[in-house]
Amino acid sequence: AYPDHVLIKEVGPRDGLQNEKSFLPTEKKVEWINELSESGLNYIEITSFVNPKWIPALADCYEVATQIKRKPGVTYAALVPNMKGLEKAMEADVDEVAVFMSASDTHSKKNINKTIDETLPVLSETVREARSAGKKVRGYLSTVFGCPYEGDVSGEEVLRITDRLLEMGVYEVSLGDTIGVGNPVQVETSLNHWTSRINPEYLALHFHNTRGMALANTLVGLKAGIHTYDGALGGLGGCPYAKGASGNVATDDLVYMLHEMGIQTGADLSRLAQAGRFIEEALGKPLDSHYMEVIRAG
Ligand code: HMG
Ligand code: MG
Repeated sequence: AYPDHVLIKEVGPRDGLQNEKSFLPTEKKVEWINELSESGLNYIEITSFVNPKWIPALADCYEVATQIKRKPGVTYAALVPNMKGLEKAMEADVDEVAVFMSASDTHSKKNINKTIDETLPVLSETVREARSAGKKVRGYLSTVFGCPYEGDVSGEEVLRITDRLLEMGVYEVSLGDTIGVGNPVQVETSLNHWTSRINPEYLALHFHNTRGMALANTLVGLKAGIHTYDGALGGLGGCPYAKGASGNVATDDLVYMLHEMGIQTGADLSRLAQAGRFIEEALGKPLDSHYMEVIRAG
């Protein structure tokens, strides 16, 4: 059976913008996040406190986090890779932080310059410090359905790392199909395996739509009891350190599907479209989602 309600986490301002070639001016980012805040979404990942040499598109993380208008009831989160990022995120007083790592060593080295086992103690310290400062911490695990460099990824390794992240004190692990290679049968088999060992309450799904599989995989996730999904408005997104990665599942397409299925999200599609038109204009290009295409066609 499908749930009555699904929680959508909007990652457009982070995952969506980190992969953009040109630098979106800070005031445009701020205005877009303010628009998203009015769309009924109650969780927005606004930026990343990473090394700006690695992700120049988000070099204004501190300014964005301190200049947005915080709407009561909305959680404003940011990615942090280590203590340095956490300290800056705390200074900017984000509501929540997210730590991230990969289930394959090659992607891990390329993305954060460390292997999986070198990363675990870094995240452990970061999560401990964040929690002792009163911040909730989310975890991301990338490449769970396939790695652009290594191909197949071990389901046991996904379980091992997910367990470690939960032991550290993250409240949920968002399982990432970083390069959008998973298919519904694979996702079903993997989720059956993982949810036999981990309560699906502690899991979220983060689909990239590189090969058009994201909504089909979402249905499989819903049937496996997972009720939290990441999306980026209009289908922006991608990890610059994962070869061939492209956009996230479009929040607007996801919301459309769920609402048509009678599943609530709290989002207002017409306000999402308004935020979509804003970012299309700011980036100077149309968004890839089906829903925004319908909007453009009038
Ligand atoms: P490193 O070079 O190994 O770091 O990078 P280091 O500790 O050796 O320090 C080197 C320099 O970086 C030093 O500066 C540090 O101060 C600085 P220097 O002394 O040379 O001037 N530094 C920092 N500066 C700002 N903020 C920080 C920070 N930490 C160190 N937090 C590091 C390691 C992790 C920092 C680097 O590799 C990095 O920033 N990587 C970012 C990668 C990234 O953001 N990728 C995209 C997000 S993940 C993703 O998209 C997947 C996801 O969407 C899920 C999915 O789709 O699967 C989440
Ligand atoms: Mg991603």
